Amino acid sequence: MTHDKYQLVNLTLKEEVRQCHENNYTAWGKGLDLDDYLAREQNFASLPATQDGNLTYWALKEKQDDGSWKIMCSMETLRRPALLKVKGKPVEETVCFGIGSVFTPPQNRGKGYAKIMLDQCSKRLDDWQMDGMSESEKAKTSSVLWSDVNDYYKQFDYELVDVRELQFSLKGLEGAPEWPSEVEPITTQDQITKVSGRDEAQMRLALDRDTEKDGISRMAIVPNAVAHSTTFGRAKFLGPLLSKVEPKQAPSVFGAIHNECFMLWTQDFAGGKHTAIRVFAPLSLDKHQVLESCHLLIRAALAEAAKWKFEKFSVWIQDLPEQVTIDEVLEHYNKNPVNGVSAQIYSRPDSWGMVRWHRGAHPGGIEWAYAGKYGWF
Ligand SMILES: CC(C)(COP(=O)(O)OP(=O)(O)OC[C@H]1O[C@@H](n2cnc3c(N)ncnc32)[C@H](O)[C@@H]1OP(=O)(O)O)[C@@H](O)C(=O)NCCC(=O)NCCS
Repeated sequence: MTHDKYQLVNLTLKEEVRQCHENNYTAWGKGLDLDDYLAREQNFASLPATQDGNLTYWALKEKQDDGSWKIMCSMETLRRPALLKVKGKPVEETVCFGIGSVFTPPQNRGKGYAKIMLDQCSKRLDDWQMDGMSESEKAKTSSVLWSDVNDYYKQFDYELVDVRELQFSLKGLEGAPEWPSEVEPITTQDQITKVSGRDEAQMRLALDRDTEKDGISRMAIVPNAVAHSTTFGRAKFLGPLLSKVEPKQAPSVFGAIHNECFMLWTQDFAGGKHTAIRVFAPLSLDKHQVLESCHLLIRAALAEAAKWKFEKFSVWIQDLPEQVTIDEVLEHYNKNPVNGVSAQIYSRPDSWGMVRWHRGAHPGGIEWAYAGKYGWF
């Protein structure tokens, strides 16, 4: 295959974007009719995180015998503000692209189209939307994705991160677990903005501290309310369409607070499961206090999961506070479990977090810190 037969393009025409969504509806439209799926994608494109040109639709086009160009596969990128810490320097802002919706229609699969698209897109992303950045700043940018196709992306230099999560099964539950009285629900945008602001501030401090200590450069996607808008926006859009609870409605509880610790979560109405997106604890708290708060926040999350008739709740390993390990949280839960809710540490077979450092492997080595669920969109 010669590459002058192919071109990677940004899709700006509504009809072309729609064509790609009509194509990938079979993969990601579970439970929705086509119109609702197209509306879901329009809703996504209207959220705070996707504004200012942050969302780009890409397609690989192939030249046809009549000279026209035809879309063979497509993908999307979401430019996300990120933090970068290099030893001896203050924490800076950088760019990290989230990659999603990589899709080749079934009749085109296995012919290398996605490979050409990802190869070409990797090169483009090396300095895409980086006006004003120096060459050395560009060399510290990255792309991340959540693979549903195992290590397919390794060939494009994506490295895998830890895919373990703490998973709770509500299958044996009889009745609804009680929301713990000591825990306050997060229900307003103001609360989300406030708690995620504390998370970002502490993340900056922790990145600075860790890199000054071991010299390893670190990147983290900013965990602010704008970043979370994709997650909450999707849940609010899908609740009224897919909820198993009548009357179908949008969720109104987005997390919980206990003793200055908080958990933000997302109701995944398409997948029928509940997932934490961040669990925060101030660094001033000790292990015991954090374990206690995590336990109560998990109980609140299980009450929320049961409310929507979800059978699963999970917390990705990277979203736990640094004072506790995943084993300790599990052990603590098992001392006083919710009746009928079992927990285990589970390696996900899908949604594998992967990162690619632009312009080849970074010589000093950069780590994707906090590679948790909150960066997913
Ligand atoms: C994954 C996908 C984009 C690949 O598109 P493609 O144009 O066929 O890709 P290529 O021709 O470059 O590579 C094909 C290879 O993809 C890999 N692949 C495809 N589906 C896979 C899966 N479910 N698990 C693991 N690897 C997979 C295989 O290695 C395959 O090689 P084979 O043809 O020898 O079996 C396409 O299969 C697709 O759209 N799948 C459904 C949507 C999806 O899961 N997208 C990825 C989301 S992270």
